Amino acid sequence: MHQDFLPPGIVILTGAGISKESGIDTFRDKDGLWTRVDLEEVATIEAWHRDKKKVLDFYNHTRRGLRAAHIVPNAAHLALARLERDYEGEVVVVTQNIDPLHEQAGSRTVLHMHGRDGEVRCMGCGHVFASEADLSPQSKCPNCQAVGELRPNIVWFGEMPQHMDEIYAAIDRCVDLVQIGTSGEVYPAAGFVLQARRRARAHTVELNLEPTGNQPLFHEHIYGPATQTVPAYVERVLAGRWKS
Ligand code: APR
Repeated sequence: MHQDFLPPGIVILTGAGISKESGIDTFRDKDGLWTRVDLEEVATIEAWHRDKKKVLDFYNHTRRGLRAAHIVPNAAHLALARLERDYEGEVVVVTQNIDPLHEQAGSRTVLHMHGRDGEVRCMGCGHVFASEADLSPQSKCPNCQAVGELRPNIVWFGEMPQHMDEIYAAIDRCVDLVQIGTSGEVYPAAGFVLQARRRARAHTVELNLEPTGNQPLFHEHIYGPATQTVPAYVERVLAGRWKS
């Protein structure tokens, strides 16, 4: 098919809410991670420089807990994979989540803007590799041999998110921007809706349990658990009913 005849693209932005029904805690809900843990102590670049052991111990512990829980994709992840498979245009999933549930559900175009669980990055040489091993300040980089520079490949507050060029380019060519299960509190992701409206004139839809921080910026709002709202929304798009 000639490029001009492809239906225009859809950008899906997901956050912790889409994985909640798979058993992964969100961050800012009443039972969320940041209500129990001080993010300034474990999720900022300053915390890393202040106390590497504390930060690494936190992520070692969190990773072991997630592996023990045998988390699997839910109906929302599966519906988005179906959308990418059956929709004729481009579908790009931009996720703030570090879990692999979109890929496990079958999505192929997934951009993890806040990094990925199960990956390690060297602050010295930038080398990224898959690893399930616990990290300590004594861990050595297999690439540059530096000691004390390995950390989870997770974007902390104060750091630049990943894949931003690809994300902005995808938003610039989309007709629909769909935000799912994110509180709209964390930038730059919370600002994607404005970019999609201003630069791409896209239709913007929010799917969440409740109204979010950037809720007034969306054309359309669908509230409810992601395992119900996302499959219904995907059904609607695939049936050709773009807008409510
Ligand atoms: N279905 C749909 N939405 C849900 C569900 C559900 N079953 N459960 C919770 N939600 C919604 C909540 O109402 C909330 O608005 O998901 C949202 C989760 O918001 P946050 O906890 O703030 O998570 P998120 O927006 O992904 O956080 C952004 O903050 O700490 C950082 O790096 C971390 O990527 C994360 C970023």
